[in-house]
Amino acid sequence: MVEFEARNRVLMTEIIDRLKLDHKRLRRVLGATLEALDDVSDGSTTAEDRLYCLLDYLGEYPHLVHHPTEELVFTALGEQPSPEFGVDLARVRSQHDFLERATSDLLQSVGTDSIDVDAIGDTLRAYVEAQLEHMKFEEANVFPLIESNLVALDQHEIACRLSELHDPLFDAHEQRFQALYECLGVAAESMQGRAAAATAQYLANRL
Ligand SMILES: [Fe+2]
Ligand SMILES: [Fe+2]
Repeated sequence: MVEFEARNRVLMTEIIDRLKLDHKRLRRVLGATLEALDDVSDGSTTAEDRLYCLLDYLGEYPHLVHHPTEELVFTALGEQPSPEFGVDLARVRSQHDFLERATSDLLQSVGTDSIDVDAIGDTLRAYVEAQLEHMKFEEANVFPLIESNLVALDQHEIACRLSELHDPLFDAHEQRFQALYECLGVAAESMQGRAAAATAQYLANRL
């Protein structure tokens, strides 16, 4: 029993650390998105491609991997620790839905021949604000409660999930995001990403 709880604690720490790392990276991407918007306003045509790439990334990893991983952890909590926590979870889930739709709409607007900055500027800035506020809310209201309540998680499922968390930009360095590497300074972080993946793989094999 003691060993089971100790393993849970290791996995819980790993997964929360990973979610926090995702947030840190997302903040960089969102900052770069605002910079790209300014550059497009100044007439840069290369910034249009960069903006599309950034939104392409935002429409992929956060929605296909980060949010589902959070959902897995929420579900692992089972019975919720308090009624307030249930309300907070409902808010987070509705924000996930909203952000997914907003990203998809923006990607469509930016994917046209020439970006109309006047038309999308305010929407994009409000979208970045919504993303930042969402992460801030999770870090303040949800992650701490998960850290103190996640005792009955499915170790194997969580460990497998950890081993699958490959960010196409920051971990996998996929060719299609090549243009974003320099502007985000991703190369310097590659060793850290590989080390985290190796730890996750170790945990998955051990259970
Ligand atoms: Fe989230
Ligand atoms: Fe999150």
